[in-house]
Amino acid sequence: MDHNPVPAVPATGTVDWEALKAAAVAAMKNAYAPYSRFPVGAAALTADGRIVSGCNVENASYGLTLCAECALVGNLQMTGGGLLRAFYCVDAGGNILMPCGRCRQLLYEFRDPGMELMTTHGIKTMDQVLPDAFGPQHLEEPR
Ligand code: THU
Repeated sequence: MDHNPVPAVPATGTVDWEALKAAAVAAMKNAYAPYSRFPVGAAALTADGRIVSGCNVENASYGLTLCAECALVGNLQMTGGGLLRAFYCVDAGGNILMPCGRCRQLLYEFRDPGMELMTTHGIKTMDQVLPDAFGPQHLEEPR
């Protein structure tokens, strides 16, 4: 299976949100969610125009569940790294899903400046969904 598809749009072009939604829905169909029965798919456009995606993967030890965003950032790293420019997450019905708090932090680490997220209240920036975020900048000396 091709995990590094041809870019949907050039990095500087308009974000094709429908293409991102389609990638998120396709990813959601791979979910392993026998415990919650709540499949999730996430997809993102990278700054260099790739689409990366992921699904949730649950575990009999419930707390070990991997959110769809975990697989997405793993996919990002495994297909060349880089930064995320636009993000879309869906539930089983293809409805927009907000990333959980932990996953907002995961996404923050790999955000491109100006990264946008499709939310239940329209397109928002990373700063809007995770204000005053802790990040790599806080690990720099001096404090
Ligand atoms: N889930 C995600 O995959 N991403 C989120 O941002 C929210 C929650 C998953 C985790 C679990 O498998 C299921 O949704 C129900 O919480």
